[in-house]
Amino acid sequence: MEELEAAVKSCRKCPLAEGRTHVVFGEGNPHALLMLIGEGPGAEEDRQGRPFVGPAGQLLDRILAACNIKREEVYIANIVKCRPPGNRVPTREEAETCLPYLIRQIELIKPGIIVLLGATALQYLVGGNARITKVRGQWIDSLFGAKAMATYHPAALLRDPSKKRPAWEDFQKIRDAYFALKAQVR
Ligand code: URA
Ligand code: SF4
Repeated sequence: MEELEAAVKSCRKCPLAEGRTHVVFGEGNPHALLMLIGEGPGAEEDRQGRPFVGPAGQLLDRILAACNIKREEVYIANIVKCRPPGNRVPTREEAETCLPYLIRQIELIKPGIIVLLGATALQYLVGGNARITKVRGQWIDSLFGAKAMATYHPAALLRDPSKKRPAWEDFQKIRDAYFALKAQVR
């Protein structure tokens, strides 16, 4: 993982290299049972070089705390590792260029559960036809050997509070599966 991180930090394979301050590689427990995947760094993430540390990240922290899950236990990463200008959605070219790094991280971590935060993570890890409003809250069998669930991105919850209740229902399922898995591997 350290070798991968060192390589990615000097990556210039896609146009997002141009505007970034820091590459946001991802962080957390390299042996995490639970991995959360977002879209890409925002302004604060770009400034700090860490995932989910801005307003959406603070909401994610509160959700994890409400699930009794410590942020240090899990691993958090994004589809693209450099900030898209103005927080626009990454282009297909950017996402597909960056994706092999994320896939390598998943292969190294071998999580039992993957949470896809929002439409971009869903699109590039599951496929183009899956709609977040339709598939959220349902377990997807075997994504890189893990069970996976898509839910709303925390930034979407900030924009539209009516999504908070369904997202919390999703996270209760995620919490239950995570604690069951922890009990199983102990
Ligand atoms: N939004 C994301 O998708 N990822 C981050 O790291 C922060 C905000
Ligand atoms: Fe490289 Fe990914 Fe950054 Fe593009 S977004 S420059 S592929 S690390």
